[in-house]
Amino acid sequence: MEFSINAQPLEKATTGCVVVGVSEGARLSPAARQLDQLSQRHLSRLLKQGDLSAKTGKTLLVHGVPGIASARVLLVGTGSGKKLSVRDYRTVVRSAVLALDGTGATSALFCLAELEVEGQDEAWKLEQLVLTARDVSYRVTRVADVQDPACTLKKVLLPAPHKLKPAEAKTLIARCQAIANGMALTRDLGNLPPNLCTPTYLATQARSLGRSWKLRVQVLEQKDMEKLGMGALLAVSSGSRQPPKLIVMQYSGAPKARKPIVLVGKGITFDTGGISLKPAPEMDEMKFDMCGAASVFGTLRAVAEMGLPINLIGVVPTCENMPDGNATRPGDIVRSMSGQTVEILNTDAEGRLILCDALTYAERFQPDTIIDVATLTGACVIALGNEAAGLFANDDALRDELQAAGDYMGDRAWPLPLWEEYQEGLKSNFADMANIAGRAGGTITAASFLSRFTRSMRWAHLDIAGVAYKGGKDKGATGRPVKLFCRYLIERSGR
Ligand code: BES
Ligand code: MN
Ligand code: ZN
Repeated sequence: MEFSINAQPLEKATTGCVVVGVSEGARLSPAARQLDQLSQRHLSRLLKQGDLSAKTGKTLLVHGVPGIASARVLLVGTGSGKKLSVRDYRTVVRSAVLALDGTGATSALFCLAELEVEGQDEAWKLEQLVLTARDVSYRVTRVADVQDPACTLKKVLLPAPHKLKPAEAKTLIARCQAIANGMALTRDLGNLPPNLCTPTYLATQARSLGRSWKLRVQVLEQKDMEKLGMGALLAVSSGSRQPPKLIVMQYSGAPKARKPIVLVGKGITFDTGGISLKPAPEMDEMKFDMCGAASVFGTLRAVAEMGLPINLIGVVPTCENMPDGNATRPGDIVRSMSGQTVEILNTDAEGRLILCDALTYAERFQPDTIIDVATLTGACVIALGNEAAGLFANDDALRDELQAAGDYMGDRAWPLPLWEEYQEGLKSNFADMANIAGRAGGTITAASFLSRFTRSMRWAHLDIAGVAYKGGKDKGATGRPVKLFCRYLIERSGR
C-alpha cells in the first residue's frame, strides 16, 4: 500500500474513491460539505433518506456522485460530532479501508485528517492513518493453503496537511511505512508454524535481515554458550533436537562512542512446558512464544529503514522447550552465566531462564538502556487481559517514557511494581533462587527474577503474553510492541 499527498483540488482528483466523514444529524465534515456542493446536494439527499447511520465506523459507498472526477464516495460515520477519541479515529480509518477492500477502488483519497481528535495534532492523525491502514491490509502468508487475496486498495492519497510542511509529511509517511514493514515482519515470523520457525530458521532470517539492512549479525552456537557458562539457557534447550542459538544484530546509526540501546527478545519457538508439560488445549498457540524475538527483528528492520541516528542492538536467545530423555527435570540446579545458581522447580517457567543468560551476555555492550520483551507469563494475561503489556523498570523515567510511547501509538503498556518484597517467593533451600514463586503475582515474580540479572543496567521489561497475538477465529500475531518501541526510539533519537 502506497501513500502520497494529493496535489489536485477535491473535484479534480481522479481516484477510485473519496473518503469523508459524516456525524450525527447528517452533519458533514468540511470535505464532505465540499463534495455535497459540487454534486448539488447529492449527499445530503442520500442522508435525508436515512441511508447512513453516523455511528462510528458505519460506512456507505456511493457510486457516480455528479460533479467530481472520482468514481465513488465513501461516507464514514464519525459519531456524535464532538471531537473523536483516539480509539474512534482508528475505528473510522479501519472501517474505511475494510469497506473499500474488495471493491474496484484501487486508489482512494482519504479526507480524514480534518476530523478533530481529542488531544492529537495533524502529525498524529497522519501517522495513525498510515499505520492503521497498513495494519488492516496485512495478510497472513500461508504455508500450505490458498493465499487470501491481497487488499485491493493499493494507493492512498491524503490531502495536503495544513500545519505540516510537505517535506515533514513525507518523512512521517516514510517512517510509518518503515514501522508497518517491521510489524509485518514480526507478524510473519510469529505466524509461521513451529516446525518451520525453528531457532536455526530465526538465525537464517537474522543473517538475511543483516544483508538487507546493513546490520552486523553474529550467531552464537551451543558450544559458544557452553564456553560462556550459559547453564540456564542450555537447561531449557536440552530437551530439544533443535540446536539453540543466541542471535546478536547490531544497527549503527550513531558514532561508535554513543552507548547502544539493547533489546532482548524471548525466542522460544515452541513451548510445550518441558517435563512440566502444558495441558493440550490451545497448546498450538505456544508457537507464538517467540513473539518477543520477532518484535526485536521487526523493530530493528524499522529502525534501519527509518535510518534513526542511534545505536541499537537486538539480542535474541532462541530454543525450543521440549520434554525428552535429556530434558531438564524439576529439581535440577543450574548455574547461570552470571554465576548465580537456579533451582528449576517448574520447567514451564523457561522464558526467564533463557532471558537471564541473554541479559547477562548483553552487559558486555554497556547499554545505555536495556529492554527485554517476552511472552513471559499467563498471569500477565489474567492481570491485564489483551489490552496492555505488563511494564516493569528499575528506572522511573524509563518506565514513564515507555508508557508514553505506547499511549501515543495505541500500543499500550501498564506499569506494575518491582518491590523487594516480591523477591521473597523466589527463595530456594538449595540454590541462590528458584525459577518460580507461588501463584500469587506471577507476572511480578517473573519480572523480579529477571531484575536479579540486570542490577548493573538501566533496564525495563515488557510482558507481552496478552498482546503479542490473538487466539480464536482471529488467531495470529499482532506485531506488538513494535510501534511502542519505534516511538520510544524516535523520541530517544531526537535528544
Ligand atoms: N510462554 C508461557 C507464558 C504464556 C502463557 C504466554 C499463556 C502466553 C499465553 C511461559 O513460558 C509459561 O509457561 N509461564 C508459566 C509460568 C509458571 C510455570 C510460573 C505460566 O504462566 O503458567
Ligand atoms: Mn513456559
Ligand atoms: Zn514460554
